[in-house]
Amino acid sequence: MPNLSTSTPDVRQAAFRFRCIACGDLSDSASQNFRCPHCGDLLEITYPRWKETAPEARNLKDAWRQRRLSQSAIDQSGVWRFREVLPALAREEQAITLREGNTPLYELPQCARTTGVPRLLAKHQGLNPTGSFKDAGMTVAATFARVAGFRWVACASTGNTSASMAGYAARGGMRSLVLVPEGKISWSKLSQALDYGAVTCQLRTDFDGCLRLLQELVLRAPVYQLNSINPFRLEGQKTLALELLEQLNWQPPDHIIVPGGNLGNSSAIGKALVEMRDLGLISRLPKLSVIQAEGANALVRTLREAAGKRLISVQAETRATAVRIGNPASWKKAVHVLEATAGACEQVTEIEIAQAKAEIGAEGIGCEPASAVTLAGLKKLVKHGFVKPEETVVLVLTGNSLKDPDFTMGFHRGDLFKGSVDESASGALDSLRRPPIVLDATLEAVIRTLEQAEK
Ligand code: F0G
Repeated sequence: MPNLSTSTPDVRQAAFRFRCIACGDLSDSASQNFRCPHCGDLLEITYPRWKETAPEARNLKDAWRQRRLSQSAIDQSGVWRFREVLPALAREEQAITLREGNTPLYELPQCARTTGVPRLLAKHQGLNPTGSFKDAGMTVAATFARVAGFRWVACASTGNTSASMAGYAARGGMRSLVLVPEGKISWSKLSQALDYGAVTCQLRTDFDGCLRLLQELVLRAPVYQLNSINPFRLEGQKTLALELLEQLNWQPPDHIIVPGGNLGNSSAIGKALVEMRDLGLISRLPKLSVIQAEGANALVRTLREAAGKRLISVQAETRATAVRIGNPASWKKAVHVLEATAGACEQVTEIEIAQAKAEIGAEGIGCEPASAVTLAGLKKLVKHGFVKPEETVVLVLTGNSLKDPDFTMGFHRGDLFKGSVDESASGALDSLRRPPIVLDATLEAVIRTLEQAEK
C-alpha cells in the first residue's frame, strides 16, 4: 500500500530519552525491568529537544486534525495520529496498530441530573479494539518491543492488559506470555487472551504476586515486559488526554476523573496534561482525580496516612477485579500528577460501585465495574464541595460493559452481594435491578409483563 500518511514539514517526531523519576538520571537505553540502574526507581520518557525545537501548537493541532482524513493505518490510529508527542519511529510502517483510540465522548444526561453536575461527560475507552484503555498504550509498547527485536512479550494482569497485549502481540507476529491471578479475573478477559493465542498461566497468587514474579522473569529470560512499568505504555496512554482535549476544542474541562489500580493510567493522563500545557496546546490544567475501590485503596491510604511520601500497600479485595491491586507500581508517578494538577483521591464502597455501574448502564452506554468507580467518586467529590455544580467533568470509562458479564448478571439477578456483609444494604439498589423474566411463551404473559413494567 502506498504511504499516504500526512506530515507537515515543521512538525517532527520526537527524539526521546529515559529519565529516572527519583534521581533524575538520564539515559538512552533502559534495562529489561525498566528500573533505574542507580536507585532502582521507575523510568519515564522525556523529550529533551522540545525546549529548542518545540513545534508550534497551532501546527500540531492542524496536522492532527488533517490526519483524520487520511487512509493510512498510522494516521487512522487515534494514538499514532499524535505521534509528535510520542517516541519517534524510524519508519511509520513499524507501528503495530488496530486503529485504537478514536473513542467517543458521551454526555450522561441522567447521571448529570442525579449528581447535580449538568456538564458531565464520559470518555469511553472501553470502545477500543480489545475493549479497554490498555490498547492506547499497547500499540506503542508492542511496537517498540518488536523494534527492539523481541520474539516474546509478557505481562502480569487483572485481565485487560493481558487481553490487549495478546491481541497486539498476535498482530505484530510475536508470542505472548500472560500471568494472571487464578480465579480472580473475568472469563471474558481470560477468553480474549486465549483467543489471541497467548500462553496463559493462572498463578495461585494475586495480581501483585504475578507482577513480582514477572519482574524477576524479565531479568532471566528474553521476554519484553508490557506492564505499565514499561514507560512506552504510558506514552501511548497519554493520547487519551490529547484526543479528549481535541474533542473539547482544546478548552480544558475543570475535572478529569479516573479509576486507580496500578496507577499507570492516571500517571499517563497527568503527564499528558502537563506536556500539553508546556507545549502551549492548553492554557490551564484540569484537576485530575483518582478514585479507588475501598478494598484496594493503597493510594488513598498513602496520601492520607503517609502524605504521599511512602507507599502503604494493602491486601486488595474488591468485586471490581480490574483494580484488585494492593501494591501499585506507579504510585509515585500518581502522587506527582495529583500534586501537579491539584486533583483529589477518593475511595468508594462495593455498593456504591454497583449502583454507579447500573446508572451508567441505564444511559445506554455501560462499562465494567472498575470504570464505574469514577461516577461513584464524583458523587463524593460533589458532596465534599471539591467539584462544583457549574464545572465541566469528564469521567474516564476504562473498560467495556461486556468485560464482566458475571458482575452484571449477579447484580440484576440480586446475587451479587448474597452472603456478604453488604447483603442487607444492597436492598437499596433494588429499583435499579432488571432481572430477566422467564415466562410461558404466550401473548398474555408478555402483555401482562409489559403492563407491570409500565407501573
Ligand atoms: N480500569 C480497568 C478496566 C482496568 O483494567 C484497570 C487496570 C484500571 C482501571 C486501573 O488502571 O492500573 O492504570 O491504574 N487493569 C490492569 C490490568 C492492572 O492488568 O488489566 P491503572
